[in-house]
Amino acid sequence: MVRALKITKKIPINMPLFSGEEVQAVTEVLKSGIVTNKSGSGPKVLQFERAFARYVGVKYSLAFNNGTAALHASLLAADVGPEDEVIVPSFTFVATAECVALTGAKPVFVDIDPLSYCMDSESFRHAITGRTRAVIPVHLYGLPADMAVINEIAQKNELIVIEDAAQAHGAEYYGKKAGALGDMACFSFYASKNMTTGEGGMVTSVNRKFLEKLHLIRVHGESREYRSIMIGHNYRLPEMEAAIGCVQLSKLPKFLEKRRKNAALLTEKLSDIKSLELPMAYEGRKHGWYVYTVRLKGANSGKRNKFVKHLNRRRVGAAVYYPVPIHKMPYYREQFDEFNLPNTEKASRQVFSLPVHPGIGEMEINHIAKTVEKALRKK
Ligand SMILES: Cc1ncc(COP(=O)(O)O)c(C=O)c1O
Repeated sequence: MVRALKITKKIPINMPLFSGEEVQAVTEVLKSGIVTNKSGSGPKVLQFERAFARYVGVKYSLAFNNGTAALHASLLAADVGPEDEVIVPSFTFVATAECVALTGAKPVFVDIDPLSYCMDSESFRHAITGRTRAVIPVHLYGLPADMAVINEIAQKNELIVIEDAAQAHGAEYYGKKAGALGDMACFSFYASKNMTTGEGGMVTSVNRKFLEKLHLIRVHGESREYRSIMIGHNYRLPEMEAAIGCVQLSKLPKFLEKRRKNAALLTEKLSDIKSLELPMAYEGRKHGWYVYTVRLKGANSGKRNKFVKHLNRRRVGAAVYYPVPIHKMPYYREQFDEFNLPNTEKASRQVFSLPVHPGIGEMEINHIAKTVEKALRKK
């Protein structure tokens, strides 16, 4: 009890963690005068890409200026266009489906597994049509989707698999890292992520064919200056961000260790609360613990939202990912088909996430657990 009183500021759901190393890395870039590169491949970007590929265990890695750009570019590299359908979960950040819509293709939303919150394989299988070109499984909250099953279905139907690994740096699936589990994978280095460059993204792949296209797309489709051979964009990552990325990547194993320790402690402390469904452990899957997501059993969204507000008032930065599934958002409802996704809709009413990031330790976890427990005891 005495320890809990020491919490004087709201514990954020996630936060960037920098030290003098990042400051020095950025300073060096600024002093060098090389802050970007026309081709997108400046010296720091190259260093970051090589280190990231090594970490994930893939041959190729290409940096982008955010995770949304990485997703959009990977769909273009997969030749996804207006005649195509791409299967995506609806229970994810909007960028997953937005990038499909940006290519002119149709996002086809499928349901989630109610326990892992990741794409349900049967739902995926049933959604495949003659127009399906790709599938984007999302490693939601840092838990890898069931990639063996998803890859098998995709292979049988000749679909390209693009992992949305925006929340899953360092997560593993049977010994392989997220990012090495599909044809391509996309990461985000947004400020809240397991590692950050402020804004930033990365596509990883084992396939050279995709890499070459990704290179073109990153710089306006130019095979050389003023010679665009396909549609592209300016998706280059600046050198300052890449320099931060190199430092953050070197810290990632320690960050993950702390996330895992915090998550284990939270599980231990919340395990007796009957009204909460805690994150499941899955054989062969190593969670990246972007956030620690629980379900308030039997709740409707009003009750859940009230509970989250109550926690926020008591300095627990609980948050809801995601209160509105993408297929229920106005733009997607107007532009695309109606979808019946009961597990997605139920989860969007009942889940909330708690912080386990490396900026907190035992004292904060105790405060979070005690606050949650006390609030639920009152009900
Ligand atoms: C699941 C998911 N996909 C895609 C993105 C997009 O990444 P970014 O914000 O870097 O564009 C994010 C991050 O916000 C995300 O969480």
